[in-house]
Amino acid sequence: MEILAVFNAKGGVAKTTSTVNLGTCFAAMGARVLIVDLDYQGNATTSLGTSELPSVGSYDLITGSVGVAEVCRPTFIPDLSMIGATRSLAAVDVELALKESQHDVLRRLLAPSAGDFDVVLLDCPPAMGVMTLNALASCSAVLIPSPPEPYAHDGLLRTWSLITRIRGELNTSMTVLGILPTLVTAERTEAQEDVLTLMRAEFGSRIPRQGIPRDDALFSRAAAHSVPACVMAPEAEASCAYVRIACQLLDASPGKIRLRRLDDEVPASDAQFSRCLDQLHMVQASVQDTLLAKAINATVVDPGAEVLPLPPDLGLPPTRVPFVLAVAGMTLLGGVIGYVAGWLSATGLL
Ligand SMILES: Nc1ncnc2c1ncn2[C@@H]1O[C@H](COP(=O)(O)OP(=O)(O)OP(=O)(O)O)[C@@H](O)[C@H]1O
Ligand SMILES: [Mg+2]
Repeated sequence: MEILAVFNAKGGVAKTTSTVNLGTCFAAMGARVLIVDLDYQGNATTSLGTSELPSVGSYDLITGSVGVAEVCRPTFIPDLSMIGATRSLAAVDVELALKESQHDVLRRLLAPSAGDFDVVLLDCPPAMGVMTLNALASCSAVLIPSPPEPYAHDGLLRTWSLITRIRGELNTSMTVLGILPTLVTAERTEAQEDVLTLMRAEFGSRIPRQGIPRDDALFSRAAAHSVPACVMAPEAEASCAYVRIACQLLDASPGKIRLRRLDDEVPASDAQFSRCLDQLHMVQASVQDTLLAKAINATVVDPGAEVLPLPPDLGLPPTRVPFVLAVAGMTLLGGVIGYVAGWLSATGLL
């Protein structure tokens, strides 16, 4: 069983979109796929046929109260299962920080399911918390989506140094499959070209030349219907780009499904590409009268409905709240007095 973490320390770079679309394509290519949503935002969960987060999910798995079999749910895509995010996932860092040897919890919890899935995709949150650490320490491979933009390039360098460190200290067998250029606009600006040239100089052929084109209309329609873009419109340019990348990433030989590194010199096979596309058209047809028929698949927000629970460790007893506020106030006041005194002494007035 391959465990693929999709990670970039930067937010909004298409981690979730890539996880969901690649997972869908892998399943269409005949692999048994599990997506684990590790981000409390729950976007991967709500991309696969539902607008609601489940009551048990990855939080319960990671904190050890349930096993994979109890929490994993089938999706409307054949061979694609999901362990969804729940609201309580926001508190998981606190829970895990309290446990010893928390780094490879996920690897140990997924191990008994090795016979049930060929590929597990981990949709990581953008922050470098215990959750991300767990995903990177537990995975066999990592894929880094990154738009060719100057702002994202800084994030890519931070991501790379984190991955290098985790590979050195916690997960020596992790393979970096490549950097996937995402949100690539048709008209590339000079700055984007410069960033792509820089990325290629840094990472070589592990960056596919084409990447995933930007298509705002397609991805927002797909989100509105809670389906991956490659099910919404398999023939769209961005969907085909995901299919091509999936074919490059997954060696789906009978009896031996494994991930391989992206390499521009080894393009996707045309036969595999067409088979995957046919399969996606069949999935699309199967939801034509349900998910795709609705105008929008969303839950109506009830402002009074849900108050997010704080983890018990963070809940302060009411009597201690004024005390904590007083201490915080005095610390702030002390800081201000110190700063003014420092300034007066620097200017020779004190
Ligand atoms: N190729 C694309 N064209 C247009 N929009 C896209 C494309 N890929 C992703 N998006 C949109 O960009 C936004 C961010 O994507 P996504 O949620 O996948 O990023 P993320 O890295 O997972 O974000 P976060 O760090 O918050 O988890 C979403 O609204 C998504 O629909
Ligand atoms: Mg995300």
